[in-house]
Amino acid sequence: MEIGRQLARRLRPPILVLLSGDLGSGKTTITKGIISGLGVAREEDVTSPSFTLVHVFRNHVKVYHVDLYRVEGFHDLESLALEDAFDEPAVVIIEWAERFRLRSDWPRAVIHLEHVEADTRRITMTLPKT
Ligand SMILES: Nc1ncnc2c1ncn2[C@@H]1O[C@H](COP(=O)(O)OP(=O)(O)OP(=O)(O)O)[C@@H](O)[C@H]1O
Ligand SMILES: [Mg+2]
Repeated sequence: MEIGRQLARRLRPPILVLLSGDLGSGKTTITKGIISGLGVAREEDVTSPSFTLVHVFRNHVKVYHVDLYRVEGFHDLESLALEDAFDEPAVVIIEWAERFRLRSDWPRAVIHLEHVEADTRRITMTLPKT
């Protein structure tokens, strides 16, 4: 969560935050940090959007939190109407980003999370130049 909060300071809309990594590697946890760091919601308001799939937070910046775990194939992805997220500059955070197949020329922060031990993770990030 602290890494997410630090990262939030470097995210300027429009930006795609692409999170990949196995089940339980920490995608939602780092998202909590990012969203609280952006000041659009409290950590406890960020949940796994497994059922709603897309959460939109709005304050001074528009933030989407998308979980593509249940998305299989392009048809499912289309049904989320994610294009709307790209109508205006926003921070679009996507869990299971390897399932994201829409074209976008927005800058991207690419973040990969890995299990090291039960309570240890490795987080690898590639951020846009500032
Ligand atoms: N950096 C970390 N260090 C130690 N534990 C972590 C870390 N990040 C997450 N965890 C723990 O791992 C578990 C799973 O975290 P989280 O729900 O964020 O993973 P996820 O990648 O979103 O999972 P899913 O694939 O189900 O969406 C939680 O118990 C969380 O507290
Ligand atoms: Mg998750």
